Amino acid sequence: MPQIFDWPGRLKQLADFVGLDQSELDLIKATSDAVLKNADDLTAAVYDNFLKFPETRRFFLEADGEIDEVRLARRKHSLGRWLRGSIDFKIDRDYPVRVLATGIVHSHPPSHRAHLGSIPSRFMIASMSFIQTALADVFREELEDPDLAMRASIAWNKMLMLQLDILLAGYVSETPTEPVAEMEPEGQENPHGQPASNPGSNQVSEGPVDHMNLKESGDD
Ligand code: HEM
Repeated sequence: MPQIFDWPGRLKQLADFVGLDQSELDLIKATSDAVLKNADDLTAAVYDNFLKFPETRRFFLEADGEIDEVRLARRKHSLGRWLRGSIDFKIDRDYPVRVLATGIVHSHPPSHRAHLGSIPSRFMIASMSFIQTALADVFREELEDPDLAMRASIAWNKMLMLQLDILLAGYVSETPTEPVAEMEPEGQENPHGQPASNPGSNQVSEGPVDHMNLKESGDD
């Protein structure tokens, strides 16, 4: 039987590592008004930044080089939904799987934009940095107590890094899986015993994430 990759376990391990505890998740919720009030501006700023740089701008252009406004609006909406959803971040079984699916559409381009290739992983990292900075500004401006603003930023920073770890899973080849030898029928063992290297093909406890069938999100 193939090994079931324990994404919730990984999330918990990293939460312990960075020291993200329930009191910080509660603080994220308690200060969420500031985020909600600024969510549209923040997502607009992220996308304005994407459009400034050719290597990120190209993902939002039509064939004639003009900005695809419809797609851009959808993508902004998706990012806003993700940001608002992050207020309810949980260290549970489902959350990491949803983040994994989001990461996979970036690392493994669906057929409708296969020609553009992966969103380069460095821009996933840089986007998270951009968002962390924007959130720190929001808290500094919106919260009267500077200590509370600092603590809210710290909690978001930790939580966003945990999400980034999973968002990047489709880009890296270190995800451990059971050695191939143990999955082969008897007598056909892999002499090298190399683990499979495509995390997108890992199974999770609720069933496989079938990224080949992920379509462009139409729910926004
Ligand atoms: C912090 C980093 C990022 C987050 C949290 C994020 C979040 C999301 C979410 C939630 C979706 C919708 C996924 C779905 O429908 O299942 C999405 C889709 C998309 N994002 Fe991002 N995104 C990030 C960075 C980027 C960057 C850097 C680019 C490119 C410059 C990008 C381009 C896209 C595109 C093109 C899609 C549509 C995917 C498709 O073809 O279906 N994203 N993103």
